[in-house]
Amino acid sequence: MSLTTLVEKLEKLSAQAVAAIELAKSTKEIEDLRVQFMGKKSELTEIFSQFGKLSAEERPKAGQVGNEVRQKITQLLSGKQESFATAELNSKLKFEQVDVTLPGRMRPNASLHPVTLVRLELSKIFGDIGFTVEVGPEIEHEFYNFDALNIPANHPSRALQDTFYVKDRKDLVLRTHTSPVQIRTMLSQKPPIRTISPGRVYRADYDATHSPMFHQIEGLLVDKKVSMSELKGVLSYMVKEFFGAELKVRLRPSFFPFTEPSAEVDMECRFCKGAGCKTCKGTGWVEIGGCGMIDPEVMKSVQLDPDEYRGFAFGMGLERMAMLKFGISDLRAFFESDQKFIEQFSRWSR
Ligand code: PHE
Repeated sequence: MSLTTLVEKLEKLSAQAVAAIELAKSTKEIEDLRVQFMGKKSELTEIFSQFGKLSAEERPKAGQVGNEVRQKITQLLSGKQESFATAELNSKLKFEQVDVTLPGRMRPNASLHPVTLVRLELSKIFGDIGFTVEVGPEIEHEFYNFDALNIPANHPSRALQDTFYVKDRKDLVLRTHTSPVQIRTMLSQKPPIRTISPGRVYRADYDATHSPMFHQIEGLLVDKKVSMSELKGVLSYMVKEFFGAELKVRLRPSFFPFTEPSAEVDMECRFCKGAGCKTCKGTGWVEIGGCGMIDPEVMKSVQLDPDEYRGFAFGMGLERMAMLKFGISDLRAFFESDQKFIEQFSRWSR
């Protein structure tokens, strides 16, 4: 190849590079152009390799033009590269600016679960009038959960679709209420007895007001002279302390196999003060549990003489109490572990 051809080639290459660099839009494109025009496999390298074939007189001239072109392309590339880098940095600085006026990141306040709060508060309220806490197992023998509580074999609560039984152990159930702790307590303590028993219970139920696992608190009092008016007095005291308001309590006749007489415990709706609203479905009353005087059959099953001793018992749902206290409308919120829900109780946790 002649010197003239090589010089022409170099000039053409230079013009191409100038145009391409001018059009480049990013540091990435500049990098690609650097490889294209200056790399090992570039045309420029190829042209340089031809210089050896020129005569000794032609070679310096070719070298000079070649170096000029190489220098020019290098300069253009780094000039562009620099201006892109500056522009990219500026836009980064603009978008990643720290707004010093933004509020700081708060550390979330720890909180106890609302059911725990209610359990602790009720334990304190009953503790103040001499009730101690007794607990029992969640996997319970059917004797304590049903038989000793005078619940007959054909009772619906014993059916497979309502109760969780332990596989291959038909005599073991996930307790369906906290009432079996009554039996355990009466078997292990001598009257006078005054206990409450909070804990988890299980039923095959699931909707906005029922969960397969929920909590109850059981109350038990056994002594020689015990009357239903004392039962009502204890429940009224509890409602007053727990809700911090003088709300009426009403015992509505009902039936439980283990109490006689039995009653549902209603309290005046605290949201409308008895006038009727959505929470109480317009009735002015909300149900908070069941209660009654201990059935003589139950007394017998724990070897207590029903002619000598009397007692009362009550059972309430802890979620229900929490819903009424905090104004929660969906029971499922308790078990979804949503931090936005749980954080709201931090002010009660202190
Ligand atoms: N165990 C009953 C229930 O779960 C509630 C109850 C407890 C009723 C004690 C009377 C006495 O429905």
